This record gives sequence, structure tokens and C-alpha cells, in this order.
Amino acid sequence: MRLADLEPDRFVDWLRQAAPYINAHRGRTFVVAFPGTAVQPPGVEGLVHDIALLASLGVRLVLVPGARPQIEARLARRGLEPIYRDSGGDRGLRVTDADALECVKEAAGEVRMELEARLSTGVATTPMAGMRLRVTSGNVITARPLGVRGGVDHLYTGEVRRVDTEALCRRLDGGDVALVAPLGYSVTGEVFNLSADAVAVAVAAALGADKLIHLADGAPAARPSSGEPLAELTPGEARELLRNEDSALPAATARLLQGAVQACEAGVGRVHLLDRRREGALLLELFTRDGVGTLITPERFEAARPARIEDIPAILALTRPLEERGSLVQRPRELLETQIDHFTVIERDGAVIATAALLPYPGEKAGEIACVAVDPDYQGEGRAETLVERLERDARRMELERLVALTTEAEHFFRERGFRPAGPETLPEARRALYDAERNSKILVKIL
Ligand SMILES: CC(C)(COP(=O)(O)OP(=O)(O)OC[C@H]1O[C@@H](n2cnc3c(N)ncnc32)[C@H](O)[C@@H]1OP(=O)(O)O)[C@@H](O)C(=O)NCCC(=O)NCCS
Repeated sequence: MRLADLEPDRFVDWLRQAAPYINAHRGRTFVVAFPGTAVQPPGVEGLVHDIALLASLGVRLVLVPGARPQIEARLARRGLEPIYRDSGGDRGLRVTDADALECVKEAAGEVRMELEARLSTGVATTPMAGMRLRVTSGNVITARPLGVRGGVDHLYTGEVRRVDTEALCRRLDGGDVALVAPLGYSVTGEVFNLSADAVAVAVAAALGADKLIHLADGAPAARPSSGEPLAELTPGEARELLRNEDSALPAATARLLQGAVQACEAGVGRVHLLDRRREGALLLELFTRDGVGTLITPERFEAARPARIEDIPAILALTRPLEERGSLVQRPRELLETQIDHFTVIERDGAVIATAALLPYPGEKAGEIACVAVDPDYQGEGRAETLVERLERDARRMELERLVALTTEAEHFFRERGFRPAGPETLPEARRALYDAERNSKILVKIL
């Protein structure tokens, strides 16, 4: 592709915006699960290119492919019917008899070879040019039979018993892409058919992966009552959804959410559910600010929330010492009471440990980030950054076009977050009238 086709300005912008994510993802461990349909044309090419890109950016990758359509095709060729049993919570699980197991083994081999072959290409005209990816797989999953559930013997359908994390880590440390098939080997030397999604959860949990990413066939999570897509959930909210609306959730979504909750509880940093049919979903999710899927992140024992009138004493306790020192402008209680709706606080175990305000001047499509204060015991751990990012998102939602901040001591804090030094003329008019030349605060502005 020629530069002119790429719209150079946008290209440069995109690359710059992606840079922080590239740095953040380097050296992290991602487990990526996808169904067997993703290994078939036309989607497979894009998937392989995205995987190769992630690997070349230094992401430690574990791939867990499913093989359902490949298994079904083999069963059909032998004139066999697939058997699925609804056994309590295990909806959608195959009952694997000896004939089906043969098909499962062949299908898993086909998927593995297909991926290995495609990840080995280095043709000059593709995004794989110059790449040398080493893909390794092996017997990292120990399985046991699922056994009899709801009166049904699942035969060669198994569940994960153990993940050989040592072997996996050794491969990832060596720069390999690890491929884990949905097959497990038992201590008795038998092969068991496993659910790829369950294998991905078990592997991510065992590795303490930074991310578990499911590329599903369809928009994975929407609220069944309203169809509203679910952008972000805590495991608690996911559990709630499963409890309340379980019957209305598609079985596949319910299973993915259950797995996500399990993974978060086992220490996985984040779980992403993506619609693989959306072109570039993986890259959009990982390299843009808003993402395109459903993100499940573990509950934090502290959270940012809008301030309430009862928070005023706690906010004053935070800001008074800073006002006395001259780091913050004096804000009498009466003024704080009138502005409280514009304040956000971070609460930790019931105590307010940080605050910041977004004072809007809607007439001028502007806002002021004010009164950013973090309890000295909790400084230096990214809380001011979290607050400012959140207020920036609020400002965008309110369609404000510029943000200003005034500070005596934290100029660089703002400059490192995209604010630029500016003169008093950039202040909203009403704020300019209050500008205290004696304080000599630095004025900073950020165009949104
Ligand atoms: C400025 C303040 C809000 C920062 O709080 P914090 O929670 O410690 O900040 P974060 O941890 O989110 O800081 C993120 C980054 O900014 C840097 N930073 C923090 N304070 C800074 C300052 N005053 N100047 C320059 N950079 C600063 C941190 O070092 C950190 O970078 P690093 O991770 O690369 O080291 C806090 O020090 C404070 O309450 N100061 C007094 C009030 C004030 O000046 N407010 C701003 C005017 S409204």
C-alpha cells in the first residue's frame, strides 16, 4: 500500500495513539481463545496476521483454538450424529464416544497444522513478511473424564485437571507462541476431548495471565432485557447477570461469562469477550482507548465515584493542608457545597483518599480540572491519573472541547498528560475574572 492511500495524517495519529498500548502490552501474557470457525476462510487470514503482529510486538501468546466445525465435518463424513447433552450447568458439551474421539483427534490435528502453516508464512506481500514465528504445542494439559453428569456418561469428554505451567512458561520465555489444543491426556494414557473455552480459562488462571481474550462467533455480551451491549463488567456484576437473567442469556454467552468470572477470581488481570466477525476486533480492543468488546475486570476494593454532600468533610480534610501550603486555591466550605456535584472521589474501604473536580463552562464548551488532591499516604500509585482520565472522559461525553487546569506545583503532571502551557486568554471568561495573578499559577490547556 502506498502512503497516499493511508491518509498520512491519520496514519501518523493512529500510530502515535497506539504507542502507549504497545509499550503496555510488551512482555505481557495473553491467552487467546477462538472457535474452530476462526481457523477457516475467510476470517483465518486476518486472525493469523493479528496474532503475528501481537507476537512481534513482544506479547507472550498462548493460543487455544476450538475445532467444532472440523469435528462436525468428520462426523458427517462417517455418517455419525453429534451428541450433545444438556446436563445442568454444562450446556453445549459434547458426549464423546470412541468414534467421535477419532474425529476430535483428527480435527484438532487439522486445526493445529492449519495454524502452524499459516503462522509460518513469510510472503513479502503480506503482513507476515520477514517474520519468523516459532509455534510450539505439546502435552501441557492433564485431563480426567467428566464422568456421569445428570445421568449421562460423557465418555471421552473430559475436564482439565492440571496445566503444566512450567513447560508453557519455558516456551514463552524462549519467545515461542504456545498452541494448546482442546485435548488433554490422562495419567492412564487416554486422550480426552475438552472444551476450548474451558482450557483457555484453566491455562489463563494457571499462568496468572494478564489477559484472557475470547474471540467468539457473535457479539458476546449484551443485556438480554434491553439488548444493550455490555462494555465493562466486574465479576460481581457478571455473576448478578448470570443469576438474574441466566435463562435469557444465550448459552454460549453464559458459559463465557462464567469462565470470565472464574478467571478473574483466579487472578487473571482482564478478560475480553470480542466478536471475531468484526474486522480487526482484536487490534481495536487492544490498541484503542475505548475498545470494542466486553471487558471483565476484577473488583477493586477502591473505586472512583461522583462525590456526595456527605463527602464534604472528607474532601476538606484532604484539601485544607494543601491549601495552607499553597498547592491548592482556597475553597471555602460554602463554595464546595455548591460545587459538590462536579467533584469525583476515590473511596477506599469507606474512606475518601483522593478527589478532583471538573467545573464545566458549557457556554464556551470548556471545563476546568480543579482541586486534584490525593492523600499523601496514597500518592504515587496512579490515583490522580485515574481521576484526571475519568474527568477527561466525562468532559468528552459533555462534548466539551477544551480543558484547562491551574497549578502551582503539578505543571508537569498535567503536561505529561497532554496539557500545554497557555496564557490567561485560554481560560473561560468567568474563570478569567477570578484568576489570581498573585498566586501566579501555571495555566495549562488540553484540546479534546
Ligand atoms: C499532584 C497530585 C494530585 C498527584 O497525585 P498522585 O496520585 O501521586 O499522582 P499519580 O500517582 O497519579 O501520578 C502519576 C504520575 O505523575 C507524576 N506526578 C505526580 N505528581 C507530580 C507533580 N507534582 N509534578 C509532576 N509529576 C507528578 C508521578 O510521578 C507519576 O509518574 P510516574 O508514575 O512516571 O512516576 C498530588 O501530588 C497532590 O495531591 N498534590 C497537591 C495538589 C496539587 O498540586 N494538585 C494539582 C493542582 S489542581
